[in-house]
Amino acid sequence: MLIGRNLLGLRGLGEETIDGILDTARGFKDISRRTIKKVPTLRGRTILNVFYEASTRTRVSFELAGKRLSADTINISASGSSVSKGESLLDMGQTLAAMRADAVVIRHGHSGAPHYLAKKLDAAIINAGDGLHEHPTQALLDFMTMREHLGSLRGKEVAIVGDIKHSRVARSNMLGLRTMGAKVRVAAPATLLPVGLVDEYGVERCATVEEAIEGAHVVMALRLQHERMSSGLLPSLREYAVRFGINSTRLKKTRPECVVMHPGPVNRGVELEPDVVDSGRSVILEQVENGVAVRCAVLYLVLGGDEP
Ligand code: NCD
Repeated sequence: MLIGRNLLGLRGLGEETIDGILDTARGFKDISRRTIKKVPTLRGRTILNVFYEASTRTRVSFELAGKRLSADTINISASGSSVSKGESLLDMGQTLAAMRADAVVIRHGHSGAPHYLAKKLDAAIINAGDGLHEHPTQALLDFMTMREHLGSLRGKEVAIVGDIKHSRVARSNMLGLRTMGAKVRVAAPATLLPVGLVDEYGVERCATVEEAIEGAHVVMALRLQHERMSSGLLPSLREYAVRFGINSTRLKKTRPECVVMHPGPVNRGVELEPDVVDSGRSVILEQVENGVAVRCAVLYLVLGGDEP
C-alpha cells in the first residue's frame, strides 16, 4: 500500500491504508519490547534523516526505527552541515541521492519541502514535519495510541486545544481523524485559528476550551509554536494558561476514559498543568513509544520490506 511510495501527508490516504500502517506498527511494538530489538528486514538499505529544524522525539525515533530494521541510518542536521554554508535544498537532495539513499526522512521549516524533493529524487521521501503543513507520522502514532485506549476511532470525540494555526500536528490529525470517522472539536485563541478551518477540515470550532472538551474521549493539547509566530498573537503566556490550559478541573468535563495527549515538547504550566502531565490520564510517553513502532512500520512499508 505504501510500497515504493512516499509518505508526504495524510491527505488522500484512505482508511484501509491507515489501518494497515497501524496494524503493521503493532507488530513492531512487540519487537521493540524484546531484549534484542533488531530484525534484519531492511539490511543493506540506506536511510538519511535530514533535519532542518530542531527535534528530539521525531529524529531519535526515526533513527531508532531504521536501526531496529537493520538499515544504515545517517542523521544530518542543518547546523553543522553544508546547509549552513548556503546550499539549496535541491543541491543537498541530489548530493544525498548520489550517495544512493533508499529513503530520505526530512523535516523542514517550509511547507511543501518534502513534496518538492519527492518530485526531484528517486529515493522514497518521508515527511517528518514541513512548516505549518503536515506531520503524518505524528498523527499516525497518535491514532495508534488512541486505538489502544479506546478501540476503533469511528465516532470518537477528539478535542484539539492550542496553537492550531502553526501546528502541522493538528493538520495531519484533523485530516486523518476525519478519514477514520472521528469527530474533532477545536478551541484556540482567535489569533491562533486559521481562516477556513471548519470548512476545509470538517471540524467544529468551539468558543471555549470547556465546550471543546465536554464529553471528549481525547484531549490533545498543542504547544505554542513561538518560533513560527509573528509577535503580538498572544497577550501573555499567563493569560493563555488561564483561558486554554488543560487542568484537572477542566478534565472533569470529559468522559471517564478520556486520555490526554501532547506531541511534545510540553511547556508545563502553559498548555498542560504539571499534575495533568504526570497523571494516569496522560499518555504522552505511550505516544513516544508508539512513535518508534509507527516509524518502523512506515519505513518497512515504503521500502517494500514485505516484498517476497
Ligand atoms: C511537533 C512538531 O515538531 O511539529 N513535535 C513533534 O514532532 N513531536 C510539535 C511541536 O514542536 O510542538
